[in-house]
This record gives sequence, structure tokens and C-alpha cells, in this order.
Amino acid sequence: MCSSSSWQALVTTVLACSAVCAFASGANFSAFPFIQYLTQPPSLTVKPRPQQAKSNGVASFYCGARGDPRPTIYWRKNLKKVSTSLSRYEIVDKVVGDSETGSVLRIEPTRAPRDNAVYECFAENGVGDAVSANAKLEVYDEKDLPAGFPVITEGPGTHKSIEVGHNAVLQCTATGNPQPNIYWLRDNMRLDLDTNPRYSILDKGFPGALQISDSQETDQGKYECVAENTVGTQHATTMQLWVRVRRVPPQFSIPPPTMEKVKVGENISIPCVAVGSPMPYVKWRRGKTTELSPEDKLPVGRNVLNLTNVEVSDNYTCIAASSLGMIEATTFIKVLTLPSPPIDVKVSDVTSTSVKLSWSHPNPDDIQYY
Ligand SMILES: *[C@@H]1O[C@H](CO)[C@@H](O)[C@H](O)[C@H]1NC(C)=O
Ligand SMILES: *[C@@H]1O[C@H](CO)[C@@H](O)[C@H](O)[C@H]1NC(C)=O
Ligand SMILES: *[C@@H]1O[C@H](CO)[C@@H](O)[C@H](O)[C@H]1NC(C)=O
Ligand SMILES: *[C@@H]1O[C@H](CO)[C@@H](O)[C@H](O)[C@H]1NC(C)=O
Repeated sequence: MCSSSSWQALVTTVLACSAVCAFASGANFSAFPFIQYLTQPPSLTVKPRPQQAKSNGVASFYCGARGDPRPTIYWRKNLKKVSTSLSRYEIVDKVVGDSETGSVLRIEPTRAPRDNAVYECFAENGVGDAVSANAKLEVYDEKDLPAGFPVITEGPGTHKSIEVGHNAVLQCTATGNPQPNIYWLRDNMRLDLDTNPRYSILDKGFPGALQISDSQETDQGKYECVAENTVGTQHATTMQLWVRVRRVPPQFSIPPPTMEKVKVGENISIPCVAVGSPMPYVKWRRGKTTELSPEDKLPVGRNVLNLTNVEVSDNYTCIAASSLGMIEATTFIKVLTLPSPPIDVKVSDVTSTSVKLSWSHPNPDDIQYY
């Protein structure tokens, strides 16, 4: 009898051989795509854990599996595949890394005794046999909870809105016997505090509270606090966290002057400062087309134009731009030169104490100083 796993092994061997043989015979090795078919059967990385919940509450099982190709996960209840057409059952799958799948089976609201069952997580990827693990759910009647069942005394509320970069503290306090442990879910998945250093659970002040520091847009989502002890598991109501991004188009806080006068051969520095959110980069242009700032490292917020030994008048434009727009302001740098020599110089009315000098000049507008 030929099982599916030994068939797979056979195929892998044959492909490996054809690649090696082709290589050995001097053929173009990279022309054989077979070598990519290196497979790995599924294995479970996280198994669902047994749970005691209360009726009208929430039960949530998590299962993680690895393999190549990435495994698919499905759930069974009392040996029958769980259908999510029943609105109390929800399955959420998540891709984890290159070869891992996570899956959550969530039951809400829980019903006793209907939901009391063994729930089984199956992972398969077409290589080898499917793997599975199971966990039992027990739902207690709301009015008849066993002593010590966790009670959430203060939850995080239903929504909160913070600005990008700010810190958020989502509160959660619970009592029970033994004292329950608290963990958090985001979008139904358990938050992994180890891989996200910006997340921490406080143990002083508001023990159990989730602190998110330097919040980012990706922190936005549905958060849920869960209190768990050996007697049972209690979920707080979910909270929607919004992370607002400030959007301010660029504007000049120190615009360059419209005109700067400089004597020929002198140096000049003209600052140009712009603000906005996101912060704009700032660059300078000479005339209509000559870029003065290196495109690959444009300064953000502030750019000082430094000119040495200025010889000719020209227009210099400061440009500030972000994803929200572009603004510009132009400074005319006027180089003050000595005027052209006077013409028609005449001497008249010469006396012992005075003489009258008169002249004219070709272009009176040019005269700045003598
Ligand atoms: C091998 O095949 C690749 C892709 O088909 C091609 O780019 C490469 O030039 C070939 N090399 C030789 C030595 O034929
Ligand atoms: C202009 O700057 C250059 C180099 O920084 C310097 O050598 C020169 O003396 C400066 N000229 C004046 C007029 O300040
Ligand atoms: C212009 O000079 C100032 C100070 O002398 C310096 O900080 C700035 O980086 C210079 N700007 C550029 C674009 O080189
Ligand atoms: C500078 O710009 C002004 C206004 O656009 C223009 O009239 C003038 O000719 C320009 N000057 C130079 C030297 O390009």
C-alpha cells in the first residue's frame, strides 16, 4: 500500500536526483526549477489550550503551525469541521514569517452547554500527514460560576484615540482566586510583547495595563484584555484604538527675504526654514533650473544657502516639500557694482574758492553708491 507521505518522499527523491544528474552531466543548473521544491511537513508551534469560560462571554483558541509550503489550519468540533456560517464562531488566520500560520477560533457569545466540546486544530500543507492538537472548552452558567473565577473590575473602555508618537496606557484590572494573569489580544491575536519592545504590561501603578510607547499607525486596532487563572478565563469588552497622524502641509517658518544686497566679491548666507508634518525637506535652486542641494541627502526643515565671492546678481529659490505639497520662495541677490564712469564731465565757474563740476551717466537707475 502506498501512503501519501511515502509518495511525497518518492517524488522529492526523484526530483533531487534529476537535478543532481543534470548538474553532473554539465547542463545549465539554474534552468532546473525543481531544486525549489524543498519541502517540510507541517508541525504545530503553538497548541490550543483548554479553557473554562462563562456563558455569554468569549472563548478563544490559538493554534500555530509551521511547514513548507506554509500550512493551512482548520478547526474541528466533536470531529466535525467548524463552519463559520454560524455567526457565533469566527476563525481568523494570520501569516507569521515565511513558513508559519496562526489561527484563532473565537466563540462569542459562548453558550452552555452547547459549546462544551473538544476543539481540534488541524494543520496540513500537502507534504506528509496533517498534524493536530485538541483542547476542551467548558462553559459555566453565568449565574453559577465556580469560586475564584476571574472578574475584570476595570477594563480599557470601548475606544481611545491618540496621536502618533505619543504613549497610550490601556487599563485592565482583575480579581479572582488565584489572582489572575493578564494578557492582551490585538485583532484577536495574542500580543507578543517579546517581539515588540514598544509594548509592555505595567506591574506598578495600573498592574495589568498595556503600555504602548511611541505609538505608530500600525498600533491601530481592536484590543482586548484577558484575565486568566486556573478556574477560568474572562475577556474584557474590546477596545478600538485609533492612532491619528497629524497632517500639516509645508510652510515657511523663516522664509528667505525677497531681496538681499551684497557687494561684489562678498560672502552671504541665507537661511530657509520650513515646518510641517511630516517634516518637509528643504533645498535651494539657482535661477530656473540649477539645483544646489544634493538630491540624495536633502536637509529636513532647514537649509542655509552659503555663497562665497558673489559676482553676479541672480534669483535663488528655496523649495520645501513633503508628501503633502511643495512651496517655494525666491530671493533676488543683487550684487552692487560700481557704476560705469560718468560721461560729459565739464568744469565751469572756476573761482578762487570753488569750481563747478557737472556730468551725466549712461544709466541712472544703476547707481547704488559712489
Ligand atoms: C543558464 O540559464 C540562465 C537562465 O535561463 C541564463 O541566464 C544563463 O545565461 C545560462 N547559463 C549558461 C552557462 O548557459
Ligand atoms: C568668504 O569666504 C571665504 C571662504 O570661506 C573666505 O576665504 C573669504 O575671506 C570670505 N570673504 C569675505 C569678504 O568675507
Ligand atoms: C552654511 O554654513 C553654515 C554655517 O556656516 C553651515 O551650518 C551650513 O551647513 C552650510 N550650509 C550648506 C548647505 O553647506
Ligand atoms: C529674477 O526674477 C525676477 C522676477 O521673476 C525677474 O524679473 C528677474 O529678471 C530675475 N533676475 C535674474 C538675474 O534672473
